[in-house]
Amino acid sequence: SSVLGSTVVNAANSAIDGIMSSGELKVCFEAGYIPFEMKTKDDRFIGFDIDISKHMAHAMGVKFVPVNTAWDGIIPALQTGKCDIINGGMGITPERNLKVLFADTYLEMGQTVLVTPEVAAQIKDYRDLNDPKYRLVSQIGTTGAIAAKKYFPNAQLNLFETSADSVLQVKNGKADAFVYDLPYNAMYAAQNKGGVVHLDQAFTYEPLGWAIRQDDVNFLNFLNNYLVQIKKDGTYDRIYDKWFNS
Ligand code: ARG
Repeated sequence: SSVLGSTVVNAANSAIDGIMSSGELKVCFEAGYIPFEMKTKDDRFIGFDIDISKHMAHAMGVKFVPVNTAWDGIIPALQTGKCDIINGGMGITPERNLKVLFADTYLEMGQTVLVTPEVAAQIKDYRDLNDPKYRLVSQIGTTGAIAAKKYFPNAQLNLFETSADSVLQVKNGKADAFVYDLPYNAMYAAQNKGGVVHLDQAFTYEPLGWAIRQDDVNFLNFLNNYLVQIKKDGTYDRIYDKWFNS
């Protein structure tokens, strides 16, 4: 340090340092979010985000380490170092962006609703669900829960820990509508024909992004350039087609 009392400024502490020294890229997500991250019967993780995460780890020359985390605690898990990145279909919202850094949008979508066949026969579109007689469900801490409160303030709302528990309420007729991300709803409806009806008109705009700890510009720069690369070299499209167009 000099007479002025200044000290040598250390290079910012980047997650990259830990990733390279451990040889592991630890990725947080919450399995059960179709088709982004699912758990197979033999306990493997598969899906769009999982394939991208594996490719990302490979690009860094390290091992992909899955960290399956409850959605409710996923930002704290990142903040406390249980993982290096959240790659789990996370919507870039202003509220979350005050706590984490997001790399550039990797996918755009919006909220839709799954309703029972009875409700589908009663309503013209999603707007009619804003009525005290309708029982809505969504997952705690998601953009679906936020959208349910914002767009259907007059309806009843019940929140559940997982998307599976939430959507089951509608399938079993215990709730009228499930507010959630379009890709999930489209696939769930395709897999449960006759059980639920998908109103596929998205009523929000939701960009998804990879989340990392604040101040980590080194990792952010890596991720944004990596994203451009995979979008231009065919990697992104190949993985996208595998999970969304099959
Ligand atoms: N996109 C929604 C959000 O950002 C839901 C994501 C839920 N992801 C999950 N793995 N369960 O809140």
